Amino acid sequence: MTRKVTKAIFPVAGLGTRFLPATKSIPKEIMTLVDRPLIQYAIDEARAAGIEEFIFVTSRGKGALEDYFDHAPQLQTALAEANKTKLLETLKATNMDDGAIAYIRQHKALGLGHAVWCARRLVGDEPFAVILTDDVIAAEKPCLQQMVEAHAETGGSVVAAMEVAPERTSAYGVLGIKKENGQIFEVSEMVEKPPAGEAPSNLAVIGRYILTPSIMQNLGSLKPGAGGEIQLTDAIAAEIGGEEGVHGFRFQGQRFDCGNKAGYLQATVAFGLARDELRDELMQYLEGMVAPRQAAE
Ligand code: UTP
Repeated sequence: MTRKVTKAIFPVAGLGTRFLPATKSIPKEIMTLVDRPLIQYAIDEARAAGIEEFIFVTSRGKGALEDYFDHAPQLQTALAEANKTKLLETLKATNMDDGAIAYIRQHKALGLGHAVWCARRLVGDEPFAVILTDDVIAAEKPCLQQMVEAHAETGGSVVAAMEVAPERTSAYGVLGIKKENGQIFEVSEMVEKPPAGEAPSNLAVIGRYILTPSIMQNLGSLKPGAGGEIQLTDAIAAEIGGEEGVHGFRFQGQRFDCGNKAGYLQATVAFGLARDELRDELMQYLEGMVAPRQAAE
């Protein structure tokens, strides 16, 4: 029987240069989709999947992220006194249990793999999840929950996989397929950012992982890979063909890459349209923008 996954690592120590100048003073993870920071979407997804311990790998300048998780008793009292019950509920839903969050520093941005490795002592000898907050996934059943269920079937490591256009594979870790079983497939190889024409498939890994503790050992002995960084992909790839192996999981849902500007804007529109109180006004605005362009074409 596989062990329950109760710990998740959130690597948030990157520099977020694609959002400069905003990220000079605001951690990327605090940027909002409508009114909720990216980190809140990730936390909610992790909670739905049964995660109880939330490990943030942070860096200099991420103070606002740590503050975000502080309880806000004065604000709560003010909202209660003003009978703003709905807002009060919204605020309380962001409160985390005492001791549920841990912060670890990554002293130098040596790559995602290194960031994950920084949390090794907190993870110990258990399977763990990794969530990249840049990847926001709109899904009926939260993506990590889908993956935890898949992991209970497969054991070993499970990575979220998504089909991308062949010309986009060089921007991702890409999976080779050994054996298919519905949404789950056994992985035959895993290559980080393969050069054009050399990708084993068009199935790209996106920012959700369930990993075995052996990945931490692999990370500890890795030399820098693609881009001079310690690559998580390389540590996972080392498990392929091993006892437990690596599985890809075709999740159900729509993924937005909020680490780049176009993806972030698309997510803002999609999550805005998903809100009852915003849909009509936003739709009217979008139609008003698109219609004259279509007429001109
Ligand atoms: P990205 O490649 O998106 O880098 O990292 P970034 O620094 O966040 O953003 P840009 O490219 O400069 O705009 C993917 C994830 O890995 C984390 C990032 O915080 C992000 O969640 N990361 C990356 C680390 O925690 N440490 C690193 O050394 C590198």
